[in-house]
Amino acid sequence: MKVNKAVFPVAGMGTRFLPATKANPKEMLPIVDKPLIQYAVEEAIAAGINELIFVTSSSKRAIEDHFDKNYEMETELEKRGDRELLGILRGILPEGVSSVYVRQPEALGLGHAVLCAKPVVGNEPFAVILADDLINEANNPCMNQMMEVFNDRQVSVIGVERIDPSMTHKYGIVKTAESAERLSKIIGIIEKPHPEVAPSNLAVVGRYLLTPDIFSFLEKTGRGAGGEIQLTDAIAMLLKEQDVLAYEFKGKRYDCGSKLGYLQATVEYALEHKELGEEFQEYLKTFICKAWLDTK
Ligand code: UTP
Repeated sequence: MKVNKAVFPVAGMGTRFLPATKANPKEMLPIVDKPLIQYAVEEAIAAGINELIFVTSSSKRAIEDHFDKNYEMETELEKRGDRELLGILRGILPEGVSSVYVRQPEALGLGHAVLCAKPVVGNEPFAVILADDLINEANNPCMNQMMEVFNDRQVSVIGVERIDPSMTHKYGIVKTAESAERLSKIIGIIEKPHPEVAPSNLAVVGRYLLTPDIFSFLEKTGRGAGGEIQLTDAIAMLLKEQDVLAYEFKGKRYDCGSKLGYLQATVEYALEHKELGEEFQEYLKTFICKAWLDTK
């Protein structure tokens, strides 16, 4: 089976970024000049996905507008003959890629958001991408690495990363067996365990490839950690019935759901930016030298 669909849960409240996220979705925050959600969509498309399913809420209309045509702006750019900007606008949603929007009426958690996509996903394996986990790996983007594993093994694959063991209470943590290079079988998974009881330091990040069987477990999942319906709890049930693999992806992840991670991504993407990189590097050097001298 081939994966054609990706679900983007974007219905969270984004409270860590208030007031910026009061009327604007967190996923529309830009890293330099591109919103987080567009990086996520580009990663899905690079993995061969051609149906994008956004799970949104009432305050997220800007996401629909972003992936829609903007006739007024395109007409104006055409008049000006600005082919480059026109290309950028038209490339946001390439031909052959379609998008569907589903509403999550209440922010009941990631698991609930994924369940809201069930009528559109149907009985096929699908990807889940959380846009606030931005992963930089230009040569072989994270979801494509996972797709290679899925195409070979035809079972659910979860993206994981080794974290500082003191941070386990912020992530879903997996217990694994039969480890091969970067790939291991998950034998247990728990949401946000305290470091003393965490089964490992392998943390689940915002990349999943799931078989549709997950939906029946999501339907049975009650409220878990934080009072939310957790995707982790449904995966814990799934792995009792079929293999679920943990894949340690290549690439650098930025937690753009936190202010610090967002700032780190902004600085590092700005340094790599083709128009801005050199100038920004000069600015940063001068700024840091001055700050360092001021401490003397
Ligand atoms: P987070 O845990 O980062 O929650 O969700 P959040 O609400 O977006 O942000 P904070 O913690 O209040 O600052 C992880 C992902 O799951 C989506 C979010 O949009 C984000 O992409 N999500 C979360 C939903 O779609 N629905 C939910 O009910 C919860």
